[in-house]
Amino acid sequence: MQLRLQCPHCGHIESYDGTPGTRIVVSCLSCGQQGQISFPFNHETAGVPAIEVSNLKKQYGTLTAVNGISFTVQQGEIFAFLGPNGAGKTTTVEMIESIRKPTQGQVKILGKDINTSFDEIKHRIGILPQEFKSFERLTVRETLEYFSVLYDKSADIDEILKAMDLVDQRKKLYGNLSGGLKQRVGVAISLVNDPDIVFLDEPTTGLDPKARREVWQVIANLRNRGKTVFLTTHYMEEAEYLADHIAIIHKGNIIAEGSLDDLISRYGKGNVLRIRNCSTQDAIETLRINGFDVISEGNGDIAIPINYKERVLEILSQLRHDCIEYDSIDIRRSNLEEVFLTLT
Ligand SMILES: Nc1ncnc2c1ncn2[C@@H]1O[C@H](COP(=O)(O)OP(=O)(O)OP(=O)(O)O)[C@@H](O)[C@H]1O
Ligand SMILES: [Mg+2]
Repeated sequence: MQLRLQCPHCGHIESYDGTPGTRIVVSCLSCGQQGQISFPFNHETAGVPAIEVSNLKKQYGTLTAVNGISFTVQQGEIFAFLGPNGAGKTTTVEMIESIRKPTQGQVKILGKDINTSFDEIKHRIGILPQEFKSFERLTVRETLEYFSVLYDKSADIDEILKAMDLVDQRKKLYGNLSGGLKQRVGVAISLVNDPDIVFLDEPTTGLDPKARREVWQVIANLRNRGKTVFLTTHYMEEAEYLADHIAIIHKGNIIAEGSLDDLISRYGKGNVLRIRNCSTQDAIETLRINGFDVISEGNGDIAIPINYKERVLEILSQLRHDCIEYDSIDIRRSNLEEVFLTLT
């Protein structure tokens, strides 16, 4: 199949050939920017955005929970809707899912307005709600069977168990599973109708780091299976690890949107070399005199911004030349947390 797509950076339009259900890395022929594109299974909706939200607003009495936001999610991407508690994530995602009624605005899923055509697209979406719970006394397999009969179209349950790495757990009671496994079952339930778009609202909240990583693997697998994933989270590292496209929501407004690299290059402070236990006044003076922009971190460590990779060698040579003592070094990359703090 062929997709005709517009480069999000320079607007150049190009056609790409590929097999439905696969993802490839492409470079824009005009600006050279690299990106990943997915070829959806369904030809009718090829090239149509998975989700288009325009001027969406939700008012709860005098509280504006979502303040006229707009964004587009492309098919095949993991879109992270990132924001702190109370930012308006669940309100937004549940308006897109047609569970809450917007005060204003429009939502299209796969090109269809949910107000007028929800029946046509509801079988193409899967949902894991926030704080999901299932029946304690059903086994994992029985749970999936129970939910799958609610839909006209259903996926192969053994396939889902395999993809979610739940085969060994299939005979265990849901109530006896660990928190991480319960969340994996939740993701599995969202797949029983073989949806094209999966909404996961805070799928890893409350999990330990190991269980969280296991759920991340499961979410990454969804993308590899050609699904579009709408992930709401307040964990910066979750968005960093998983997302192709991130929108940061704060107090009902989207304050930044783009790929991780876009956000870091626009709002991050750049990479820094941190030198531990090196902040004598003499050391700082010497480095400054030699043209290094030294920031004292106040705990004995210093940080020096690195604009190009050879800068690290220049700094280390200077330390050696001037016999400046230090304990260790590390390079700290700008991250989403820094972007978020800069923006808020
Ligand atoms: N049904 C409701 N009635 C009144 N206010 C509500 C309702 N639902 C949510 N709110 C308020 O709207 C704001 C946004 O809530 P929402 O649940 O969308 O945030 P969230 O980003 O999902 O937060 P969390 O990370 O805690 O899940 C909050 O101030 C919340 O208290
Ligand atoms: Mg929420």
